[in-house]
Amino acid sequence: MVTKFLAIGLLGSALVALSDAAATKANQKAATTPSPTVDALLAVTSPAWLASITPITGLPTEVPSGTVPTGALATSIPGFNVSAYPTGWKTPPIDSDEVKAVISAIDWTKVPAAPTRTGKSNGDLVMTGYNENTDPYCWWSDTNCVKPKVDYLPEDIYYCPRPGDWGLTYDDGPFNPSDFSKLSDSPWAEPNLYNFLAAHNQKATLFYIGSNVVGFPAAAQRAIQDGLTICVHTWSHPQMTTKSNDEVVAEFYWTLRSIKESTGITPRCWRPPYGDVDDRVRAIAWQMGMRTIIWDEDTNDWNMPGDGGGNLSPNTVDGYFQGWIDAYKNGTDKTNGHIVLEHELNNATVSMAEKWLPTLQTTFNVVPVHECMNISNPYWEDNFVYATENGTASSSSASADPTTTDMSSALSTAPPASTETSNEDGALSASASAESQPTSGSSVMTVSSLSALMTAFFAVCLL
Ligand SMILES: *[C@@H]1O[C@H](CO)[C@@H](O)[C@H](O)[C@H]1NC(C)=O
Ligand SMILES: *[C@@H]1O[C@H](CO)[C@@H](O)[C@H](O)[C@H]1NC(C)=O
Ligand SMILES: *[C@@H]1O[C@H](CO)[C@@H](O)[C@H](O)[C@H]1NC(C)=O
Ligand SMILES: *[C@@H]1O[C@H](CO)[C@@H](O)[C@H](O)[C@H]1NC(C)=O
Ligand SMILES: *[C@@H]1O[C@H](CO)[C@@H](O)[C@H](O)[C@H]1NC(C)=O
Ligand SMILES: [Zn+2]
Repeated sequence: MVTKFLAIGLLGSALVALSDAAATKANQKAATTPSPTVDALLAVTSPAWLASITPITGLPTEVPSGTVPTGALATSIPGFNVSAYPTGWKTPPIDSDEVKAVISAIDWTKVPAAPTRTGKSNGDLVMTGYNENTDPYCWWSDTNCVKPKVDYLPEDIYYCPRPGDWGLTYDDGPFNPSDFSKLSDSPWAEPNLYNFLAAHNQKATLFYIGSNVVGFPAAAQRAIQDGLTICVHTWSHPQMTTKSNDEVVAEFYWTLRSIKESTGITPRCWRPPYGDVDDRVRAIAWQMGMRTIIWDEDTNDWNMPGDGGGNLSPNTVDGYFQGWIDAYKNGTDKTNGHIVLEHELNNATVSMAEKWLPTLQTTFNVVPVHECMNISNPYWEDNFVYATENGTASSSSASADPTTTDMSSALSTAPPASTETSNEDGALSASASAESQPTSGSSVMTVSSLSALMTAFFAVCLL
């Protein structure tokens, strides 16, 4: 069972990491109008349908303090029943009792009727037929929209407001060893990055793939023991706008459940794979307890050579990091902080992350996303109260209602018009047709190599 998750998981994450980054456009057409008033937001509560899920034993019940564990991780955890989960790296069935319970708990009158999008065989989205001028459903993949068209959903989080802040995020984890019987072959798998972060006294935000959590629940457990923040990154890493309403629910549900069972917490945050979100998907996520988090700077690290990676030169990625550091030091980057997309995906991305972190720490205020957003409660479990830039709130003041707290107020000022950097100029945009050519060479995942990996992925899924 574990093997199934691993075997498919590796290829899957290789593919899917192709990427959150690939979808990023050169110009962020950011909203410049004020956010909706907090009062207008749809009230949501802690997901009742997770109440029956009993976490494994030995988990922290509040933010841990003191020394963090650094030993080897167990390859499986007693009490974590892998058989209770659907097949990894496939959109889960929508007719299970558990998924049906969530579907019936959602107010579908508050889910905008955006058409379900289609994907091409190469993984790109079909953009034809969507009016990108009016952008009726705030579809990020087409317009980089982050401000929903309906007033009852909060604006996406996509940058840290305070200049000099570096919102540290790693997607696609937890990074599973390729073969649990030969751990020495996977020195970069977890707990490598988590131990490195601990050694450098650094917290981060992790966007977890449910299939990877079920493949390696001990790594998720370690993350929560280390005080890292966990958010959802879906079960099988699809373009979420291509999924039906019920499939969106299933992708979220099993990820939430796997995180709750392995860590004891219920995230109030998620990041769409490839950034692919519209108001339909946002509304379902919000009603399942999660606010959408994107990014405003992209390392494209997923595209470096490595297991499942691409052909982007590591020197190019080094150049992005150096450019961001230079721009901050020379005063050109002074309007706002950032949320930066990195991956715990393969040896190359983890190695790159560890190479740059010490330098980043001497330049920026490197923080998890909730910290720069003053979100003291990133989970529905009220006992977990994290430090923020305005201090650590007390448990009692940290209401679980996002309509009245931390989750809503942070983006009331005009966001940056364009904080994207040159590395996206040549990136394969999700809106580009399969025929369109990238404008510059080395930083680009070519359509044909993307296609080849997609084919490999689908071949595996048929097994
Ligand atoms: C694990 O889950 C499966 C499927 O839900 C169930 O049939 C089985 O009884 C569970 N095993 C344990 C030990 O709980
Ligand atoms: C600041 O650094 C950035 C990144 O290297 C560079 O593009 C920009 O030209 C520099 N500006 C000044 C005024 O030095
Ligand atoms: C990553 O692994 C590949 C082989 O899979 C190897 O060629 C490459 O040197 C490794 N990179 C790092 C940074 O360890
Ligand atoms: C966080 O709190 C600090 C201190 O009160 C404040 O300066 C900052 O603007 C707040 N940030 C956000 C995103 O609300
Ligand atoms: C921190 O800021 C958030 C939003 O900016 C606010 O809701 C919260 O009450 C503040 N906490 C403290 C301890 O000042
Ligand atoms: Zn991803």
